[in-house]
Order: sequence, then structure tokens, then C-alpha cells
Amino acid sequence: MSASESYRERRFTFRRREMLGDEEYMSENWSPDSWRSKPIHQVPTYPDPAKLTEVEETLRNFPPLVFAGEARRLKAALADVAEGKAFLLQGGDCAESFGEFHANTIRDTFRVLLQMAVVLTYGAAMPVVKVGRMAGQFAKPRSSDTETIDGVTLPSYRGDNVNGSEFTAEARVPDPQRMIRAYNQSAATLNLLRAFAQGGYADLHKVHQWTLGCVAGTLQAARYQDLCNRLDETLAFMEACGMTSETTPQLRETDFFTSHEALLLPYEQALTRIDSTSGDWYDCSAHMLWIGERTRQLDAAHVEFLRGVKNPLGFKAGPGVSADELLGLIERLNPDNEPGRITIITRMGASQVEAKLPGLLRAVRREGRSVVWSCDPMHANTIKAASGYKTRLFDDILAEVRAFFAVHKAEGSHAGGVHFEMTGQDVTECVGGMTAITEDILGDRYHTACDPRLNATQVLELAFLMAEQLKDERVQARAKARAAGR
Ligand code: PEP
Ligand code: CO
Repeated sequence: MSASESYRERRFTFRRREMLGDEEYMSENWSPDSWRSKPIHQVPTYPDPAKLTEVEETLRNFPPLVFAGEARRLKAALADVAEGKAFLLQGGDCAESFGEFHANTIRDTFRVLLQMAVVLTYGAAMPVVKVGRMAGQFAKPRSSDTETIDGVTLPSYRGDNVNGSEFTAEARVPDPQRMIRAYNQSAATLNLLRAFAQGGYADLHKVHQWTLGCVAGTLQAARYQDLCNRLDETLAFMEACGMTSETTPQLRETDFFTSHEALLLPYEQALTRIDSTSGDWYDCSAHMLWIGERTRQLDAAHVEFLRGVKNPLGFKAGPGVSADELLGLIERLNPDNEPGRITIITRMGASQVEAKLPGLLRAVRREGRSVVWSCDPMHANTIKAASGYKTRLFDDILAEVRAFFAVHKAEGSHAGGVHFEMTGQDVTECVGGMTAITEDILGDRYHTACDPRLNATQVLELAFLMAEQLKDERVQARAKARAAGR
């Protein structure tokens, strides 16, 4: 481009922007690849760009993994959360991996999410929106581009859809072909999840059967059993009134949605399609996508890409986020203030929630923005154990969740949801909880491909705690409504 052309272009842009106003200009100028002209963080450097282009082309011709209508349904459910009428439960692996790909792993994570949802629904008397960090959660942002072990420095592992986790120079080379494998694994995972959710496995009459072997014998199992017995009585009463699994689909099946961090943009772009019903763009790799703490710069590539797709979106907000930054992101990603579009996933660290969260809640309320507030008590509570394992203390996780609920209660706002790294497997990755996983046994069953996850017993313990908090919120809201004469 010559200097005068670029001058003409700039002048045109300026005029057009003046004519349309910022908002319309922005939406007019979005395309699935407009992120490519923006600064980008956390990208792998592929040694063979031609191979990357080839893979992108292949993916573009693959079928979508989810449908726009499903993403819209999730957005509507999240709008209820934003209005205080429902609760969001989002959880799954930190990173899915090719090596840990088994039907049992998928089933067990799904089962624990169902168990948690029952505990929460029963305690809070409120619908629970279930979203897995599953069927696409492969790419990982890293604090450092390289990793050094015993004086050897290699590129960091960035998730199985980018490179291999083994500490060899060969494994760490980014390989675009991995995206095809991630797509196929996501498709198979989603297929199983749909079958579990709709095919009878999630029938409320089967709540007893969802208990995992590894939870048996614990206090959580006893509490859960007790809840199941009460639920059985309710179901028997409903049956007497004519509501059975055959007559009432809500008892027989459930909605289960998928989500992941939209980090690897060539993959996300290739799965972005126009919905023929609405004419809008949807990223059909998952129902919900979120932007991570390290890639949420307002003018950078990830925000640019996601502002143009109509899926429900999340973004992480760490202790360093300012109210202005938060409002800037909300404005960019949801200029029309559509309820259910934005979930703010705070990850402050147990000791920072009380200091940081109130100011953010007030700023968002002051601007009249509709958002879901969700708590990720994992990512700002990561420590290194003396043994070298990356871990998280259950007490810190619990403390962040408690503080999140307490701040919302004090501010009169709805603690909308939680975001956990968890698994149905009996792992020993986070320290503490009632089964008392200690630092010295972390190595026993430490299987995560990235960050340490809560195991089934630990998440159930959290679910009971949250159910109490939500019940409290409900009682308070009722009392307030009564006092106001409603
Ligand atoms: C994650 O959710 O796995 C993650 C990397 O989170 P964050 O962006 O909050 O650090
Ligand atoms: Co993580």
C-alpha cells in the first residue's frame, strides 16, 4: 500500500466512523478473520504456515459441533441467572487431553456435575444451568513461553491441540494437525454428553445411581444419600399427581452445555459459521466461549474475535482488573446490553475478594449493565507444594467461594454461579477437604494435564456449602419482598 493510499484509507475510516458512530462502525467492520490484524497474545508459532492453512481449510469443511439455536437457549438460561432466577454451574478439566480420553472419564465428570446440580437445585429451589468445561477445552495460556528443567529450556506446553506435554524438543513443536484430533475428540465427547443428558441417564429417578464409588463411605455421600431419599419422596408424590418420567420430560432429561476458553483463534475461526435462521455469526465449537485473564486486552485479537459471534461469552477478571477495564470489555462485547450475553468470571484469590469485588459490582450496577457474576475460586489460589506439585488448598477455594457469596449478600446482588476445575476421577491434586488429602500424597493420583482439579468428594462438599448460601439468599429475598408488600 502506498503512502497516499494509506492516507486515503485512514481518512475514509475516520469519516465513516464519524458518520456511523463507534458502535455501528465496529460491528460493520467485524469479520471472522478481523482478529488477524490485531495484536495477539499467547499464540503458538507454527513452523509450517502452509500446513496450518491446510488444516484450517479442512476444519472449515467439517460440520459444526453445536447449533446456533442451542447457544441461544443457553443465552436465555443465562439471562435468568443474570436476573437472579437461576444459578450457573460450570466445571470440568483444566485441560482435556488426548491421553485421558475415555467414556468413563466423561461419564464420571458428567455424573458429579449432575450430583452438584441436584444438591444446588434442591437447596436453592432454583434452576441450575449446567455448563461443562468439556468437549473442546484443550488450549492453554501460559505464564511463560518457555519451561526450563535441569538447565534445558524448551517451549511451554500449550495444550494438546497445540503441542505435546512431554518434555522433549520434538513434542513441544506446535503441530496444526492436532486441531483435527481435538475436533474429533470434541465431537465424540459431545455425542456422549448429549446421550447422557437426553437418553435417560440424567433421569431424576436415578439420582441414587450417580454416586461414584470413590465418594462412598464419606460424609458427603451420606448427605447426598439423605437428599436422594427426600427427593424420592417428592418424586413419589409427583407420580401420584400424574407427573412421571414419561409424562414430564423435565424429570427425564436435562440441558447440558459445553464451553471452553476461545484461545486458539485459527481453530475458533474455522468453526465459525453463519446461522441460517438469524443470519448471525456463531462460533460453533461450543455453546459458550470465554476469554482468559491473559488475553482480554480491549484492542487485542481475542476480544476482537469474540465480539462478533453471538454465543454467550465469559471473561475472566483477576485481582488486577479495574472497574473501567471491566466496563470497557462489557461495552465492547455487549454494546446492546443483552441479558445472558456476558458472564464475568472473577478469580481474585481468597484474600482479595472482599477488597476487590464490591467496587466492581457497584460500577456494573451504576452503569445498568446486565451480567452474570460467577466465581472461579481456582486460578488465583494456585501454589507450589514443597514436593514441586502445583496444587490448591481446599480451604482457600472454600474461602474464596464463601467471600464471593458474602460480598454479593452485602451488596444485595445475586451470586450467579461458579466455575470449577474438577473431575469425577478420584484424583489427589488439591490439598484438603474432608477426606484430607495431604501434601505428601499429592503424587498418588496426580493426573491433570495442567492445573490441579477438585475430586468428586471435594466438589460435593462445596456444593452443599453453596446450597446453604443460596438458600440464605432466597430467604433474604423473600423477606425483603414481604417487607415491600409484594
Ligand atoms: C483456565 O481457566 O484454565 C485459566 C487459564 O484461567 P485464567 O485465564 O483465569 O488464568
Ligand atoms: Co486452569
